[in-house]
Amino acid sequence: MHSTPTDPPYVRYVHSFEELISTPMCDEFNALCLRRTIEGDFSEVIRHLKAERGITTLERARLLSLPVSAAGKVAIDFMLRDQEQLQSYGLDPEIDCVNGYIGHDQPSLMRTDVCSFHADRATDAADTYLCTYSGASSLGVCHHDVIPRAQIPALRKVLLADFGGEDDENFLEYLSENFYDLHYEALPGARTFCFGVGHLWRIAIDYPGNPVPPCIHRAPDPTVGDPPRLILIG
Ligand SMILES: [Fe+2]
Repeated sequence: MHSTPTDPPYVRYVHSFEELISTPMCDEFNALCLRRTIEGDFSEVIRHLKAERGITTLERARLLSLPVSAAGKVAIDFMLRDQEQLQSYGLDPEIDCVNGYIGHDQPSLMRTDVCSFHADRATDAADTYLCTYSGASSLGVCHHDVIPRAQIPALRKVLLADFGGEDDENFLEYLSENFYDLHYEALPGARTFCFGVGHLWRIAIDYPGNPVPPCIHRAPDPTVGDPPRLILIG
């Protein structure tokens, strides 16, 4: 395990699947990364999928039924192996084809879409596992370099007006119910980093009693004309 000064802050690099799963998060380190070089033709898999707009979860049987070349088969086996290995540890990741987002650009009081910097949340201890196999990857930002968007005074005023009450416990509940408390604004000069393609990440999320701060991250902005992406998430 190592973290050199050129690495993103608070990310620990591991050297095996086992280490990725079993290393405890502590000392503010809230992301673990298993760096890998992937092989196989993921573009061919995407072409065969003919995915509709939005997110399509890919079942094992569907992936195995695609009439792909040997290189496409290598790509499919790579993704399924990741899924199986994580399942063997009791996790339940899915393989998704992401072809843009539906409703992602709808007007709202405050952004709460996956392309906005956010923390994931669970009621019990859990982490998010993430790998991008093809396409633009997610971005992370150092948790010291962000502010909760709901604490920006002008925005808090708008949210308070919508809530229609005082800035008290009930308002905090309203923020939580609407996921407004999970989204962040990167400060000028924020240290951001790219998750990259092929690397398997385990990132800390928000749950009661988590000893480390959640890893603030976001999906890449969809670009019109770009091919769909292939990811593992769970
Ligand atoms: Fe997320």
